[in-house]
This record gives sequence, structure tokens and C-alpha cells, in this order.
Amino acid sequence: MRKPLMAGNWKMNKTISEAIDFTKALKSLVADVSDVEILICPAFTSLSAVYNEIKGGNIKLGAQNLFWENKGAFTGEVSPVMIKDSGCSYVLIGHSERRQYFGETDEKVNKKTKAAFSAGLIPIVCVGETLDEREKNETLKVIETQIKNGLAGLDAEQSRTVVIAYEPVWAIGTGKTATPEQAQEVHNFARKIYSQMYKDSAEKIRILYGGSVKPDNISTLMQKPDIDGGLVGGASLESDSFAKLVKYSK
Ligand code: PGA
Repeated sequence: MRKPLMAGNWKMNKTISEAIDFTKALKSLVADVSDVEILICPAFTSLSAVYNEIKGGNIKLGAQNLFWENKGAFTGEVSPVMIKDSGCSYVLIGHSERRQYFGETDEKVNKKTKAAFSAGLIPIVCVGETLDEREKNETLKVIETQIKNGLAGLDAEQSRTVVIAYEPVWAIGTGKTATPEQAQEVHNFARKIYSQMYKDSAEKIRILYGGSVKPDNISTLMQKPDIDGGLVGGASLESDSFAKLVKYSK
């Protein structure tokens, strides 16, 4: 059984005090939850402060990006070791906004994925097609390439632990969610491709759906057999709505 994972991607939102207020509120709203793994991914500046609020509890911490070197002359970058040291257990890699605005390629995604593992972090590797690619019927080809290149070369333990997030770019922040059927088709395909790479791990890894996930569409998405959780942007910024997502089955 794959334990569902509900991850909040705050993107470039919230000051430290806003992050602390959110976390205090969320903690009490989800105190009774043990059947879903809960993850919040604040900006780097708030990681430590949020960790102080959540340590020892049922909410985990993730970063939104990393650089693959552990230290050195890389002005402006944050290393896997530093992220681990801030209390993170997860890190998002290859989010479409990073691919679109910051030149992240599958090759960089692969280096970052391996660097995350070396520091003891679990990478959540994001894949997804643009609207143009979907309209040209290239969705599955894009997903296959991103998975094969981004997740190449993992060892057995890593291949069982990594998390994939399928986020169709046209559904991110647009209010247009993929239908549960559209999402399931891609999730199932992604698992099939992954099984060609890591045969024994494909049934173990969690594949999250992301793209306009809201409290009113989460439960139909979660009913699909290959959807193991959500990567949530907008609806993760308010503690009430994120708590509803975490408690989608209640
Ligand atoms: P959204 O963002 O929920 O606001 O569509 C999802 C994401 O980009 O991770």
C-alpha cells in the first residue's frame, strides 16, 4: 500500500511571520491525521522557522529547489546539505516554473535528483506537458522523455523512494484541472515507463497529481488507482483549504 502524500508548494509566497502563522494553524487542524503524509514546501527563507514549529509532529518540510554541489563558489545557490540541515526531508525538483523560467533541463533534474539523495533528502521530481504538446498529441512522449532522462541511474533503494509529480503545465494556476481520467491515463503510463527502468520499484513509488487541485476536486482524483497524492500550489496557501485537502477522505 502506498501512503498518500499531500504536498503544499508555496512557491514565492509568505514572509517568515506569515509562514509561522500558517504552520501554527495547520498543526492544530491536522493534529489527528496519520493516514496521509503531510508536507509543506516554503521558500528557503522560512524553512528553519517553520521547522521549529513542526519538529516531532506529523507535518514534514520540503524545499522547492536545490543546487547539486554541497558547497563552493556558487553565488545565490542553496546546497542539498544546507537544505537537509534546515530540517527538510523532501525537495521539489524540476517544477515546470523552473523549467520554463530558469532553464532547468532533464539533465539538471537528474543531477539534482541524485544530489538530493546523497544528502538524505527525498526528491519529488516534477514532469508534465505544455498545452501545445498536449494539443499535438505529444503528452506521453514528453512524459516518457522526462522520466527516462530525469530519473536515470538511481540505485535500488533510491528507485523505491523517489516521488514523481505529474503536473500538466496547462493546469497549473489556471483553474483548469485535468479530469481524473486524463490524469489517471498519464499516471498509469508514467508507472509503466518507470517499471521499464526499475521493475520492482514501480508499484512502490508515489505519483502525485498537481495542477489546480482544490478541496472540491481532490477526492475524485484520489479515487484513481495510480494517483497517490497531490502537489498543490494556490490551495495550499490557506491553512483551512490545505487541511481540507489533507483530510480529503473524511
Ligand atoms: P496550482 O499549482 O495548484 O496553483 O495549480 C500547482 C503547482 O504548481 O505545484
